Amino acid sequence: MAVEDGAGAMPVRSEEDIVASRQKVRALCQLLKFSLVDQTKMITAASELSRNTLIHGGGGTMRWAFVENNGRAGLQLVFEDQGPGIADVALALTDGWTSGTGMGLGLPGSKRLVNDFDLQSAPGAGTRVSITKWK
Ligand SMILES: Nc1ncnc2c1ncn2[C@@H]1O[C@H](COP(=O)(O)OP(=O)(O)OP(=O)(O)O)[C@@H](O)[C@H]1O
Ligand SMILES: [Mg+2]
Repeated sequence: MAVEDGAGAMPVRSEEDIVASRQKVRALCQLLKFSLVDQTKMITAASELSRNTLIHGGGGTMRWAFVENNGRAGLQLVFEDQGPGIADVALALTDGWTSGTGMGLGLPGSKRLVNDFDLQSAPGAGTRVSITKWK
């Protein structure tokens, strides 16, 4: 797989897109030589967030980038949509809270699986979730 410019973007608008994004994240983790455990953590978090982007956000994008901090390599993923947004971000990050029929574990679970987690959202302003895993 080509590393391209070390960054890229792909749509998250269908179940097929979710499968493709998961494959992309796996390939990126392998390029960074993440351990199998870390690969699985990042892929699981990405799966949850891409599903939220599709189901709750009405579709959006996943952007990815190789990042570096003090010589340490990492993979950043940003999930973005222009959907309804989240009124109470703290509540949405609570274990077991869902506005629908899910388990309400996607956001808090994802947060625990990565090193950096940033959620920006407001009603009517869409949602942006950035996660980073460092090697
Ligand atoms: N991209 C988004 N746009 C709008 N609302 C969102 C978005 N992502 C999450 N939410 C809101 O946050 C709540 C919690 O999300 P979380 O992923 O933790 O649980 P869930 O998707 O409801 O269930 P699960 O992920 O366990 O199947 C959702 O029920 C939804 O109301
Ligand atoms: Mg979810």
